Amino acid sequence: MAHVNEHYLKLQAGYLFPEIGRRVSAFADANSAAKIIRMGIGDVVKGIPRPIVDAMKSAAEELAHDESFRGYPSEQGLDFLREAIAKNEYQDAGVDVGADEIFVSDGSKCDSGNIQEIFAADSTIALTDPVYPVYCDSNVMAGRTGACRDGRYDGLVYLPCTEDNNFVPALPEQDVDLIYLCSPNNPTGAVMSRDALAEWVEYARAGNAIILFDAAYEGYITDDGLPHSIYEIDGAREVAIEFRSYSKSAGFTGTRCAFTVVPRELTGHTASGEPVALHGLWNRRQSTKFNGVSYPVQRAAEASYTPEGTAAVRGLIAFYLENAAVMRERLAACGYTIFGGVNAPYLWLRTPAGFDSWGFFDHLLQNAHVVGTPGSGFGAAGEGFFRLSAFNQRDAVEEAMDRISGLK
Ligand code: MLT
Repeated sequence: MAHVNEHYLKLQAGYLFPEIGRRVSAFADANSAAKIIRMGIGDVVKGIPRPIVDAMKSAAEELAHDESFRGYPSEQGLDFLREAIAKNEYQDAGVDVGADEIFVSDGSKCDSGNIQEIFAADSTIALTDPVYPVYCDSNVMAGRTGACRDGRYDGLVYLPCTEDNNFVPALPEQDVDLIYLCSPNNPTGAVMSRDALAEWVEYARAGNAIILFDAAYEGYITDDGLPHSIYEIDGAREVAIEFRSYSKSAGFTGTRCAFTVVPRELTGHTASGEPVALHGLWNRRQSTKFNGVSYPVQRAAEASYTPEGTAAVRGLIAFYLENAAVMRERLAACGYTIFGGVNAPYLWLRTPAGFDSWGFFDHLLQNAHVVGTPGSGFGAAGEGFFRLSAFNQRDAVEEAMDRISGLK
């Protein structure tokens, strides 16, 4: 008899975004005339910039000819892209990351969900509350938690991110082994300062912990004083893995390309205390379970670093940040308390009096036909908050703001 992995049965009903999709479809079926504006899942809407698509097309053309055809790409990513990443994302900014430390992949969701496999089953996991659900659910599936009670799993160490700490987690009072940090943060839009990150690096170094640093939204940082990479902090190479993505910068949510940095000197330990290089373990994991990103997509990602590609990506990010600015201004004008949306594409609002997160979700859907994401879907400390994504066309953003203003 095939027994199932019963840890899956501990998971909350559905992954957050499919659950929202289900509720929105039910509403749309019952209200076919409603013009729904989707500001829930953070999915981009603008086309991939022309120089990037041109590179993808010409790489696809190469595949039509025996002389330039390519079969399996290397599981770690093709050298031209790894070198372009190391130079453009890190070395040009004075950050020490080598091409051989970069693992190209099909998404930061996959990488941040899969990375826990290289750590022991009894690892103590710390994560923020609210949190991007992938970090939590992937550890539940792996059996690192007990049951879920009142929105929190037994066995996880939650780091509340609240208005009182400006949505930046304080250090835990106990020792933990793995720490998930995300900056700019999904969902709150908060960005960790250099000092705050330095405290975490120090904590990890003191306790031989590993930080799993999700920087998928780093392109949205416009404030010069804020760190884009954890490796800007001294000592971080010894304690951190970093995830980055082309999804929200170059418009690759459907195209799929991302990368993970595992520094050569980063080690975990065996139960008997022997150091083991995490680079080798992640390489082994990827070589076994992943077959690389397609050649045209890697050429497209490479083209995002040409002068034209870079300018176009900056333009896309600026467009979405302007959306966020419009949303902040319009929502503030009708009395909402708003966080985020400055160095991040997400706004985090306090729900109005009388509404919990799902109540406000229903209220907006039914009365404004606008979809957002209930804060409680990201964790118990997200209750009373609501996330709006700035990834939309400008006219849709304006229309959504008009409708929300009309509710008050
Ligand atoms: C979100 O809306 O939180 C993101 O789109 C999720 C993701 O990138 O996987």
